[in-house]
Amino acid sequence: MPFAPFDWIDDEARRRADAGLVRTLRPRGAEPELLDLASNDYLGLTRHPEVTAAAAGAARRWGAGATGSRLVTGSTELHAELERELAAFCGFEAALVLSSGYAANLAALTALSGRGSLIVSDAGNHASIVDGCRLSRAETAVAPHADPDAVAKTLRGHEGRALVVTDSVFSVDGDAAPLPGLADVCRSANAALIVDDAHGLGVLGEGGRGALAAVDLAGDEGVVATLTLSKSLGSQGGAVLGPARVVEHLVNTARTFIFDTGLAPAAAGGALGALGVLRREPDRAASARGVATALHARLTAAGLTAARPDAAVVSVRAPSADAAVRWAADCRTAGIAVGCFRPPSVPDGISRLRLTARADLTEEQITAAVATIAATAPQEAFAPVG
Ligand SMILES: Cc1ncc(COP(=O)(O)O)c(C=O)c1O
Repeated sequence: MPFAPFDWIDDEARRRADAGLVRTLRPRGAEPELLDLASNDYLGLTRHPEVTAAAAGAARRWGAGATGSRLVTGSTELHAELERELAAFCGFEAALVLSSGYAANLAALTALSGRGSLIVSDAGNHASIVDGCRLSRAETAVAPHADPDAVAKTLRGHEGRALVVTDSVFSVDGDAAPLPGLADVCRSANAALIVDDAHGLGVLGEGGRGALAAVDLAGDEGVVATLTLSKSLGSQGGAVLGPARVVEHLVNTARTFIFDTGLAPAAAGGALGALGVLRREPDRAASARGVATALHARLTAAGLTAARPDAAVVSVRAPSADAAVRWAADCRTAGIAVGCFRPPSVPDGISRLRLTARADLTEEQITAAVATIAATAPQEAFAPVG
């Protein structure tokens, strides 16, 4: 038999191509050539002069890398300052910064559960939560989307540690989780509530303090938030926020914290710079929400089917994976970058164009974007009349 241990990869690639599910990388240039409705830079901060100056200044002062894991040489005073600032801004007792939001979800889920525990996870949760559940060795029950009653039923009768985990804003359809209902269920069952606020920070809550602050659950004894610094804060990295004893427990037990190099100083500095801008200009959060509402209203008025956005993500239904890819490509040719979600990234198998509202989009840009998206839409994307 010939030595060809990777032949199966070609078979898989053919199957992907037949199903219209090939993914390709498209490196972009430094200067924006397209109108951006695809990135997660919700507040338009990634190129803000104060944010880039803070990132560059941190690299000059502290070095290009953190030099080691957080428990060895990778904790600088800058990391400690970012942790204090994140906790204070979002209203939690303590914070722990990690190298990504992905690592933050793995850290929280693995360190706060374990064999014999039960995790109840929303069916629409992000892949990093799914992977955290898998790594945790806990029993995982996938609950129907946004359904506190179903979560309550699943928790009933479980003895031992239990936790409920949800995105605050779901990345596919942009809808918000029923956090007050889930918190009530958790309180009755003595279960912890872990909320991934990747898409809520900077957009929801007063001045962008996040989804938990918006419903008065920030700082609650039974609630933990996970964050990414890579969306509204325009930087890179992640964090877990919660009671001080939870953070201390993570420092001692969370493997994606302990065995990972600390966040690069430039990323920590950039996130601190963004928090500074957001404190001074709290209206950015409401602007991002307003742009999302305007995009939704105008796209649906044009006859397209779009989910009502609870934050900055606006999702428009496409008739098929193939059609979604072609639609996104046509938008790109017409000068607009949009996201394209299709299986396996969509839990219900429905492909979508995924648009992200940015706080700094102008009226002209919103009008141009809607006109282009409607003009390039496949006929089947328009809702039947009547
Ligand atoms: C809901 C959600 N959680 C976690 C992550 C992971 O964050 P990061 O990119 O910082 O790893 C993302 C996106 O990237 C996300 O959308």
